Amino acid sequence: MSTAIEKHDIHSQRTTIRRHGFMTRVTHWTWAFALFFLLLSGLQIFNAHPSLYIGEQSGFAFDNSVLSIRTVRGTDGNAEGLTTLFGRSIDTTGFLGVSGPQDSRVYQAFPGWLTVPSYHDLATGRVVHFFFAWLFAATFISWVAASLLNGHLRRDILPTLSDIRGLPGSFFEHLRFRFHHDRSYNGLQKISYAIVLLVLFPLMILTGLAMSPGMNAAMPWLTEVFGGRQTARTIHFVTMLLLVGFFAIHIFMVFAAGPLNEMRSMVTGRYRIDPEPAEGGAER
Ligand code: HEM
Repeated sequence: MSTAIEKHDIHSQRTTIRRHGFMTRVTHWTWAFALFFLLLSGLQIFNAHPSLYIGEQSGFAFDNSVLSIRTVRGTDGNAEGLTTLFGRSIDTTGFLGVSGPQDSRVYQAFPGWLTVPSYHDLATGRVVHFFFAWLFAATFISWVAASLLNGHLRRDILPTLSDIRGLPGSFFEHLRFRFHHDRSYNGLQKISYAIVLLVLFPLMILTGLAMSPGMNAAMPWLTEVFGGRQTARTIHFVTMLLLVGFFAIHIFMVFAAGPLNEMRSMVTGRYRIDPEPAEGGAER
């Protein structure tokens, strides 16, 4: 995040700064694009075996499933979607297990509109997933290298003590939809971006590698660190859910804070900040 002043508009008392560096913008849009395909191809792969387990084993003989999405025959003879989470089952007909209009029902865990390809094709799903997984991993490594070199990580992402102290205030400001357009991220932004960039992204890549047979041969300890391949798969899935949750709030915040200014900052780098409070004036 660069703070060099570009333009000062005396009429509106607003200043435009260069907020995001080139690498921040390029990596952001590359992983937004890659994550879109990773999500949809990942759900295609999940559909091939729509159950998650904790531990080393999986299959009918074991009782270690934490989530399963199945198609079952209901009491009226019709197919129903049944999702079981930690032993509690709910009817998810219409979305999970069974989806689509009555005359062309689809019997798979996630509906076709949430998978790539939209029809059942595990082989293509895997090709798409692995292509974007490498793109995502390469983008992440480039982001880490660039952010260490240009100071973005230390300056803009890692929360300081005063960011952490200011968290409750920042949280209530967000709840009241009061957004400040400052030079740097606020504490809440820093913490959520730090969790995404420094915890969820590496966890996604490492649990993905832990499931790969090639990596198992080269680094068997990686799978063991995550408690076995099945647990790694479950952590991979939960990380995906957390990223989807982050994404929903992220987009909501972009719109709430002023989408034009926010989007412009991530596309061109330029960002309009609020006027500085006059000297001796009231604090915001
Ligand atoms: C179409 C979708 C997206 C839009 C419109 C969007 C928009 C933005 C904008 C405007 C910012 C800058 C916020 C600011 O300057 O205050 C930003 C930053 C960020 N976004 Fe997104 N975003 C999208 C998708 C994603 C996705 C899918 C992820 C990851 C799951 C993500 C993660 C982040 C992170 C980590 C940052 C901080 C980047 C840094 O400073 O290095 N975004 N996004």
